[in-house]
Amino acid sequence: MKTISKRILLGVSGGIAAYKSAQLARLLYRQGADVRVVMTISATRFVTPLTFQALTGHPVHTTLLDEHQENAMGHINLARWADLLLVAPATANVLAKFSQGLADDLLSTLYLAAECPVFVAPAMNQAMWAKPATRENLQRLKNHGVTVLGPEQGEQACGETGPGRMLEPETICRLLFPSANGAPLQGKKVLITAGPTREPLDPVRYISNRSSGKMGYALANVAAKFGAEVTLISGPVALPAPAGIKVLSVETAQQMYDAVLAQAHRHDIYIGAAAVADYSPAAVEKEKIKKHADELLLPLQKTRDILAAVAALPDKPYTVGFAAETEDLALHAQKKLQRKNLDMIAANWVGRESGGFDSDRNALSVFWQGGHCQLEMADKRVIAEQLLDLIAERINAKSTA
Ligand code: CTP
Repeated sequence: MKTISKRILLGVSGGIAAYKSAQLARLLYRQGADVRVVMTISATRFVTPLTFQALTGHPVHTTLLDEHQENAMGHINLARWADLLLVAPATANVLAKFSQGLADDLLSTLYLAAECPVFVAPAMNQAMWAKPATRENLQRLKNHGVTVLGPEQGEQACGETGPGRMLEPETICRLLFPSANGAPLQGKKVLITAGPTREPLDPVRYISNRSSGKMGYALANVAAKFGAEVTLISGPVALPAPAGIKVLSVETAQQMYDAVLAQAHRHDIYIGAAAVADYSPAAVEKEKIKKHADELLLPLQKTRDILAAVAALPDKPYTVGFAAETEDLALHAQKKLQRKNLDMIAANWVGRESGGFDSDRNALSVFWQGGHCQLEMADKRVIAEQLLDLIAERINAKSTA
């Protein structure tokens, strides 16, 4: 395992998720980081400073004006010492204080004094998360250069369900140090499709779908971060081209088919994240279709299944499909896995309130031959990290089998 040569100041504020930060401190420490912990007074009511002291091997800092601790390492020294300030959990109160520049306790003073990168992992009730005041505070913090990790969607300690759960310690650790796992896709060539396709009807009209391309682009960015050489074949989207990634732009399902089949044999992994049209107009009219009859019937023909064609190649890459389902998700996904001879399928619900198409967040049920894993609702970047971790794990298991 690679080590993190970082001095991490871990700020723990007063939320129930503070108990998870003990595990986070341990994970960071195990990766080789030098971790010092600062707790707010309310955090000490959830977890004792002694727990963090035992886990990190250092006394925990709790008060701004503690004579002993000031002697050992005053707040300015502590801020100077850190390579990175991570606040997890970050309560609504802490986010509000940081965003306004209040400095009435040790943690908020450290934030003001810190010149290193700052990461916050919010944790709060979903209604507090949704409140305009919290949204504004977060936006201010982002504008000030703070990186916000999460939160996740899910069951909350208060009994409600929604966004506001702190990310799992493993996820926070991975997001902070993607290379801590030793760039799990180093040396691999990854081909990814993203976005919708457009199937023209005439020179001005087309059939398409609501795909934004965000999932495929997140996968491409993360795969590159994981050390892979990435080729992205993209339908029409409104996203910036990812830096350092070869992007081939296409429009129709047939163009995507041609581009993918020309590339697939040169790649180790194929991820079909594009929402390819299943049908396209049988004929494209040369001129704009005029409005005449009350009813217009458009003959459609099935497009070629790109995913199935890649999976049928003699020396096929590790082939990962997506499935968008409105009912019986697990059953349909597993059937597609077998029918298309895939190595893995990532299924998500569509047509529901949150996640999926055109959203920044997603949740996936992932199936592979002989295994299954649920990725809970989270930012698509976090989901991309988790899915690529699973793929890397399966590939490495395959190559050492
Ligand atoms: N796909 C593809 N080529 C097509 C249609 C779909 O490669 N012509 C791929 C998508 O990129 C995705 C997967 O197939 O990875 C899932 O498509 P989906 O529409 O959910 O499944 P289908 O097999 O088309 O089945 P159905 O629409 O009946 O659910």
